[in-house]
Amino acid sequence: MNIVILAAGMGKRMRSALPKVLHPLAGRPLLAHVIETARTLSPARLVVVVGHGADKVREAVGAPDVQFAIQDKQLGTGHAVQQALPLLDPSVPTLVLYGDVPLTRASTLKRLLDAAGPERYGVLTLTVDDPSGYGRIVRDAGGAVRKIVEQKDASEEERRIAEINTGIVVSPTRTLDAWLASLKNDNAQGEFYLTDVVERAIEAGVEVVTAQPDAEWETLGVNSKVQLAELERVHQRNVAHALLEAGVTLADPARIDVRGTLECGADVSIDVNCVFEGRVTLADNVSIGPNCVIRDASIGAGTRVDAYTHIEGGTTGAKVVLGPYARLRPGAVLGDEAHVGNFVEVKNAVMGHGAKANHLSYIGDSDIGARVNVGAGTITCNYDGANKHRTIVEDDVFIGSDTQLVAPVRVGRGVTIAAGTTVWKDVGEGELVLNEKRQVSKTGYVRPTKKKS
Ligand code: UD1
Ligand code: CA
Repeated sequence: MNIVILAAGMGKRMRSALPKVLHPLAGRPLLAHVIETARTLSPARLVVVVGHGADKVREAVGAPDVQFAIQDKQLGTGHAVQQALPLLDPSVPTLVLYGDVPLTRASTLKRLLDAAGPERYGVLTLTVDDPSGYGRIVRDAGGAVRKIVEQKDASEEERRIAEINTGIVVSPTRTLDAWLASLKNDNAQGEFYLTDVVERAIEAGVEVVTAQPDAEWETLGVNSKVQLAELERVHQRNVAHALLEAGVTLADPARIDVRGTLECGADVSIDVNCVFEGRVTLADNVSIGPNCVIRDASIGAGTRVDAYTHIEGGTTGAKVVLGPYARLRPGAVLGDEAHVGNFVEVKNAVMGHGAKANHLSYIGDSDIGARVNVGAGTITCNYDGANKHRTIVEDDVFIGSDTQLVAPVRVGRGVTIAAGTTVWKDVGEGELVLNEKRQVSKTGYVRPTKKKS
């Protein structure tokens, strides 16, 4: 089939300079969700109708398999579909989706497509408690669809109909051209309504069928920040339930946010208020403490990530201990059983098996060997004001507290660095390195006291 996604509207009620379909849900534009669902149906053509903020929309979701049709003026949903027609394959049906309806499931769309087949006209409908605002499905005594009437054009009696048009339809494509060309805008809103195509289809002897979604939220659109926030919660609840079904322990399914993909092994547990972004993989028996933000990371089996840890890209081996308050940045690679503790930042650095940096350190652009103990307050001085340089610390080095390693520098295997040392020259294997300093004590010293005013 062809898929046309309508995304030309401006979304005034969002009260934002950003085109409505680019507002993020789970960290990605609304429209990106619709495109992703569309792709799972393997359409012959995928066309997005753009208008307001067309350039921004193109830039945000452009891809080789997506074509764009321009609708300069928003003259109605029928007019919008008309703009896409030249880009469609006439030999297969056309499914119409909405760029601001992000959570429709592919299974629901398949049901509609199956009901319609290649020749019938299909409408996704829903019976709701409060149909106000929606187009109503008008059926004859035998139950066959006769037309769709918009709220603003509906009679008192029609307004009592509880079955509504979700907006999602599928139509044979060859005939669509003539049907759309014959639409009139002599209605309450002065628009060319896609909904009026139903009557054209019936006149042409084409059967109109309906299908229903599994859940109401699948067809909800975003017109305001309130609706955006509501759908965000629906989506996060769905993600959390899928994780629970897969055996992940969540301290509270209402307090996890996944903005990307989160893959979990067996017996993973996640405490409250964690945010996962990009692609995150948690291997078997990983536990994540409360209030962690984890992006683009792969966490090895049995690793414990304690509270308030922030990962912006990194890989850990097995049985690593991270946090509380640790920060990994891109290029951080921690070997098995490494420890990175409170207020330790690791960037573009490898830490070997069992290496430990437990307190208050910066490890950037470094190779830290196995079993190295990085004392509290150790800083790699990786930046000379112009360029970054690497620090190499070989296996079994003991780094005393408050050490500065001025890169580029290499510290040989088994070296001991005394506390408070600035290391700016390479150190050979097994040596003790220290800076000569003198400790001076003086007697009779009197501390200043505060002046009385
Ligand atoms: C439409 C349906 C209505 C249905 C409702 C479901 C019509 C005439 N009415 O009404 O039966 O119950 O959706 O939400 O189809 N758009 C364009 N170009 C246009 C007009 C709209 O791209 O010229 C896009 C909008 O950006 C939006 C979507 O189409 O994403 C729906 O348009 P909107 O004006 O919100 O239609 P409704 O009045 O809600
Ligand atoms: Ca709407």
